[in-house]
Amino acid sequence: IQTGLPSLKDEVPFTMGSAFTRPDTLGVHGQLLAKHFNGVTPGNELKWDATEPREGEFTFTDGDYLVDWATEHGMTIRGHTLAWHSQTPDWVFENATKDVLLQRLERHVRTLVTRYKGRIAVWDVVNEVVDENQPDGLRRSKWYEIAGLDFIRTAFRTAHEADPAAKLFINDYNTELPRKREALYKLVKQLKDEGVPIDGVGHQLHLNIEHPPAADVEATIERFAGLGLDQQVTELDVSIYTDFVSTYDTIPPELLLQQGYRYKELFDVFRRQAARLGSVTVWGESDDVSWLRSWPITRLNAPLLFDDDLQAKPAYWGVVDPS
Ligand code: XIL
Repeated sequence: IQTGLPSLKDEVPFTMGSAFTRPDTLGVHGQLLAKHFNGVTPGNELKWDATEPREGEFTFTDGDYLVDWATEHGMTIRGHTLAWHSQTPDWVFENATKDVLLQRLERHVRTLVTRYKGRIAVWDVVNEVVDENQPDGLRRSKWYEIAGLDFIRTAFRTAHEADPAAKLFINDYNTELPRKREALYKLVKQLKDEGVPIDGVGHQLHLNIEHPPAADVEATIERFAGLGLDQQVTELDVSIYTDFVSTYDTIPPELLLQQGYRYKELFDVFRRQAARLGSVTVWGESDDVSWLRSWPITRLNAPLLFDDDLQAKPAYWGVVDPS
């Protein structure tokens, strides 16, 4: 890695995080993480399919490895995620009455949050529960179909009981889009008014080099500031594609430059909003590990701050250079 570069974490007024994954397969990626980041989020290892693949059989080998690594490096850890419609085994919903489903949820949440009590500072308790195209703004997941809003209430209450000091977040994508922003706002306000122990809102921010405008991101942060909750950017990346079908054989250099300016305008917003933003997390430390190389299709993408050789991209300089 380039050792002479300024460390990102010293250049920003909030925790600078990255998603990461099994350091035993990372090698030098661990050095990059340690130099530039003071926060991490296990990308897959704490999800339900990884931690409780069969009912009551918990597996923490990979999760423990990552949490131990991050703890030794003094990093703030975001736990991701306790209840989600994706990467959740089928057994969870099989023959599940509402009571059975909530019991399964309670045991899962209690087991994970208790295991990492005092080490995982922040949990994404529920992930992607909003659907602004539904009349009530809630995604028609199996969770919702079987248990309604109670799965959200149960997840937060159980997590809070297991570790009262952990900060509990609701996390979603497209929160910068006005309609989704309002649907999420309505839900969070309702939960808060009911006394559900929710501490913060996570904005995933999977963006692309053109859309949406940074001003929409700022408008979202200002909107939620009215609720007096913590906010974090949880999964930032900036795709070089503006659609779901195009592919490049090689990465056009002018797009990397454009991306650099895009990161700069976003970090200008984050710096301005630093009093409301506890942390900004990018979804991967370098392009070679990005999920956007396999989603929504397999293609060459380069959405992050460091390239495949772990060299700083214009995007890195966009973060470092304030306006
Ligand atoms: C992604 C992981 O990065 C991939 O490795 C996995 O195959 C799919 O999930 N929103 C989320 C994250 O909340 O959990 C997703 O992570 C990316 C989209």
